[in-house]
Amino acid sequence: MPLSTPPAPQSLQHAPGPQHRRPAVTATGLWRAYGSGEAQVVALRDVSVAFAAGRFTAIMGPSGSGKSTLMHCLAGLDTTDRGTVDIGGTIITGMGDKALTKLRRDKIGFIFQQFNLLPTLTAEENILLPASIAGAKADPAWISQIIRTLDLQERLTHKPTELSGGQQQRVACARALATRPEVIFADEPTGNLDTRSSGEVLRFLRKSVDDFGQTIVMVTHDPSAAAYADRVVFLADGQIVRDLDRPTADAVIDTMRGFENRVPLAGEAA
Ligand SMILES: Nc1ncnc2c1ncn2[C@@H]1O[C@H](COP(=O)(O)OP(=O)(O)O)[C@@H](O)[C@H]1O
Ligand SMILES: [Mg+2]
Repeated sequence: MPLSTPPAPQSLQHAPGPQHRRPAVTATGLWRAYGSGEAQVVALRDVSVAFAAGRFTAIMGPSGSGKSTLMHCLAGLDTTDRGTVDIGGTIITGMGDKALTKLRRDKIGFIFQQFNLLPTLTAEENILLPASIAGAKADPAWISQIIRTLDLQERLTHKPTELSGGQQQRVACARALATRPEVIFADEPTGNLDTRSSGEVLRFLRKSVDDFGQTIVMVTHDPSAAAYADRVVFLADGQIVRDLDRPTADAVIDTMRGFENRVPLAGEAA
């Protein structure tokens, strides 16, 4: 499966702007272990990290380093053993299920490797679903702007099975952005896409940060994909080991060599 993506055009790289932006998401002293005794795996060890609003951050690291666990804890999809997660000024760790579900619906957008569209709904219905579940009427001007930007006008009445992988992921991007969430979490969003579709999705994520002020946190193991971000946070063995600003694909590869002595092969499971 081709995982390399074309380099980000200069004009699309790196949001300019103030050095110090308000954090959209802050994790403080996160610990998460699975299992117990001999079989215990400590997936996160005292992770503290903040993600500034209106920035695009990539999370990288070897398979098993805790990337998905961190993202799930940040998004309130997994519980933590210790530490706090703050989303847009609300501490979500320790919240009850009902409040957490509402917070996720109102403040978080998700993009998954497997697209996760509802198969019985059209592209348009999928895009509008989170807003309609929230009981809010999506802003029609905003929705049509997203649809135009993602070039989905001709695909709105199609079901997911009638769409290519790239088109499905563009629908998932539109769905994530529709409610203008505080933050979008993307776990390997280009992991199932060919080079061209990957480039389209990454350029759109970049644009949604630059033009719409969206905050994005993306897990990837592709250095070319990470180069679209403003910053790359590297995890190894449940800890943050590097933090790189204005990454280029080469700098990402060098950094990974530095602490890992190997670079994940294209297509390697993360
Ligand atoms: N539900 C789980 N039960 C047991 N161990 C888990 C679970 N989820 C993750 N782990 C373990 O935690 C570590 C980190 O996993 P994960 O966050 O999925 O890493 P990554 O996304 O970087 O590949 C790994 O050793 C993995 O096996
Ligand atoms: Mg993972």
